[in-house]
Amino acid sequence: MDLNRKDSLLALMKKKLLRNISPDSMTGRIVLVRVDYNVPLDNLCRVTDLSRIERTIPTLEYLISAGAKLVLISHLGRPGGRREPELSLYPIVGHLQRFLDKKVEFCAEVVGPKAREAVSGLSNGDVLLLENTRFHPEETENDMLWSDEIRHEADIFVNDAFGMAHRSHASTTGVSKTTKKCGGISVAGFLMETEIKVLSKVLSEPARPLVGVIGGAKISGKIDLIEELLRRVDSLLIGGAMSNTFFLAMGHNVGESLVEEKFVDFAQDLLKEFKDKLLLPIDVMTAKAIGPGISPEHRKIGEIGESDKVVDIGDQTIQVFSEIIVRSKTLIWNGPMGIFEIPSFATGTFRLAEAAAEAAKQGSYVILGGGDSSAAAKAAGVFTKMTHVSTGGGATLEFLSGKTLPGYEALSDE
Ligand code: 3PG
Repeated sequence: MDLNRKDSLLALMKKKLLRNISPDSMTGRIVLVRVDYNVPLDNLCRVTDLSRIERTIPTLEYLISAGAKLVLISHLGRPGGRREPELSLYPIVGHLQRFLDKKVEFCAEVVGPKAREAVSGLSNGDVLLLENTRFHPEETENDMLWSDEIRHEADIFVNDAFGMAHRSHASTTGVSKTTKKCGGISVAGFLMETEIKVLSKVLSEPARPLVGVIGGAKISGKIDLIEELLRRVDSLLIGGAMSNTFFLAMGHNVGESLVEEKFVDFAQDLLKEFKDKLLLPIDVMTAKAIGPGISPEHRKIGEIGESDKVVDIGDQTIQVFSEIIVRSKTLIWNGPMGIFEIPSFATGTFRLAEAAAEAAKQGSYVILGGGDSSAAAKAAGVFTKMTHVSTGGGATLEFLSGKTLPGYEALSDE
């Protein structure tokens, strides 16, 4: 790795950590905790994946046993600065209570008299969850005055929202700065600390071969990651709908498959510059329509028909990719290989998830990032076998692409 990058990573690590704050110093004090409870909900507003809640529990338990008064803030969804009842954080309360085995208060406001009253009613070790910060336009505008209001006079701010670390919003960088300005400290919670350490290790001193697996629908959202990974990895395996754009760049027909025509030139450039590292599927599974119960057909690349849609990678690709994955010493995986939500199109993703689990078993450092990849690993029954499953989507991609994370950078220096 280049020295500048190593230096900036080292600087990044030198932030104040919750683990170094003595519990006694927090007893009886209001501690503001930014969590990322931007969780998936079904149409009855029930939480369908609890990982992001569960992963904050060590931080919350530490603060509770220190006798702090916990005020939790988070966003959920993108309500655009307006109150949207279906994006209330209230459904989180029951899950938090179950994980913490204690009562959790909820206030349907973030600021104002009701929120202040709820905060001032807290006793040592109590937990209060405030409403969705994005019900207020000031949140995404990173309004400094509002940042100070949501601080609720806390002089300790714990940021455990790794998934939000790439956003500079009032409840992340804003409140971190106002806390410091008032003489307080802003520290990284346990989840934030783990994510930064694990991902930094991959960036700075990966055991080799270092293999990347990138899938999902779009090149557009992952363009920086693809380029950056190609520079660092020994092999980059590309699957999912984004490989269609590469097939097009190679002059192959992709039928009615999803493609991003405006990235064809970009794909061509990458194919030229990184031809030894970049591996694409050699066969795929296609269907005429997308839906449950449809059996896909096998096609070699170059034999995709006019009315075919690529829905998964093929058997030979599964075999080649699996061998490379199992031989890796470090593996970064982001994005599925096909439409894995439909069982008949899930084979490629599940088989590679199993290969990743096998690699981890043989000592490879396996990192999974992004909601789709973790959902796929869960569905394949190998979620717990990975070395690290990142809670970040965009944050993980940006960090692995070499960008700094403002939410982390804004914390107090050691
Ligand atoms: C995420 O899920 O990636 C974070 O919670 C950030 O959400 P956002 O993309 O809506 O800002």
